[in-house]
Amino acid sequence: MLRRVSKPANKWHQIRNHRLFAPVTSLIIFITFLVFVSGRVRQQPGSITDPPNQKRYSYSSSVELHPTVEYRSGTDIIWQIPKSPKAVLFLAHGCNGRAMNFWDKSPECPKCVGLPEERLITLHALSHKFAVVAISSVGECWSLGEERNVVKETIRWWVQKHKLDTLPLTALGASSGGYFVSALAMDMKFNSIVTMIAEGVFHRFKIPDAYPPTLFVHMPKDSSRLQLVRKNLESLRQKGVDVAEIECMEFPLTPNLLSDRIPEVNASVSVHLFELFRKNGIIDERGYMVKDGRATRWKDALKDEKVPSLVQNDLFHHIQEELNLAYAYHEMTSLQMDQILDWFESHMK
Ligand SMILES: *[C@@H]1O[C@H](CO)[C@@H](O)[C@H](O)[C@H]1NC(C)=O
Repeated sequence: MLRRVSKPANKWHQIRNHRLFAPVTSLIIFITFLVFVSGRVRQQPGSITDPPNQKRYSYSSSVELHPTVEYRSGTDIIWQIPKSPKAVLFLAHGCNGRAMNFWDKSPECPKCVGLPEERLITLHALSHKFAVVAISSVGECWSLGEERNVVKETIRWWVQKHKLDTLPLTALGASSGGYFVSALAMDMKFNSIVTMIAEGVFHRFKIPDAYPPTLFVHMPKDSSRLQLVRKNLESLRQKGVDVAEIECMEFPLTPNLLSDRIPEVNASVSVHLFELFRKNGIIDERGYMVKDGRATRWKDALKDEKVPSLVQNDLFHHIQEELNLAYAYHEMTSLQMDQILDWFESHMK
């Protein structure tokens, strides 16, 4: 769909190389490009291209979350297989995450949490006919020793049990999960992987020649990590590994952001919170987060105002995740799922 290039992966490279587009004459191609990069362009308040504030998600609304929860090798394994799956996606959470974050609380999974970005990742993947399997780390974060072997075995067992072993295998890990996935791929065959807000552990292992195509989805505001991502990306490229990156930029909150992205928050609560955040200086006059959600005393502002349903439903983490995402320093993100799935789908052979 973009300019014809010799290697399909080049279109990913182009996300970062605007100059390549200078000679491009076709208006259609240019528009396609704009759509492509909109995820990394700093959004202006009220901009119609602002991706997080639109209700039109690119997953099919007929997709529903129906997980199966199992317990194996001392941890949770939660999965869902769509009709006629075309690939398998293994999801690895970050520190303090759980497999339960990727599905909504339901009778099938009473302990599920359904964090907003995690559940959207699952919905997008299912909508694209990916069988999704998430495993919880045994500790707070993933470890790179024996846990790697245990998870490899668990994935192999699960894929064979459900007769999915002939399908392409992909993985997406965020933060600690990104390190974990980058290590898992050293000796487990993936068609491609995504490491999100993590530069990977490439300095700790000898990178095999057959290392899978690797997409780095990162937040450049974290400038020390940015350096590491660039360094690892370059060393993988020099090894002949197909690599690309997507930069995730900050964006302003809007009154409807929280209700658009968190099913349990309705529009009036969302508008109320937006005004509260503005009044308390948690967002600036344009709607941008002044500090990271974790470093902000936004919970105190909530307590004063008593938004009881939020306390009752324990939606603090849901809201915090969206605030962190808007600040774009270090958070799970589903905003780039179209590009991520495109990456997986273009490396399936
Ligand atoms: C929105 O949610 C709050 C808290 O649960 C509730 O009090 C309020 O009635 C809801 N508003 C609408 C319009 O549904």
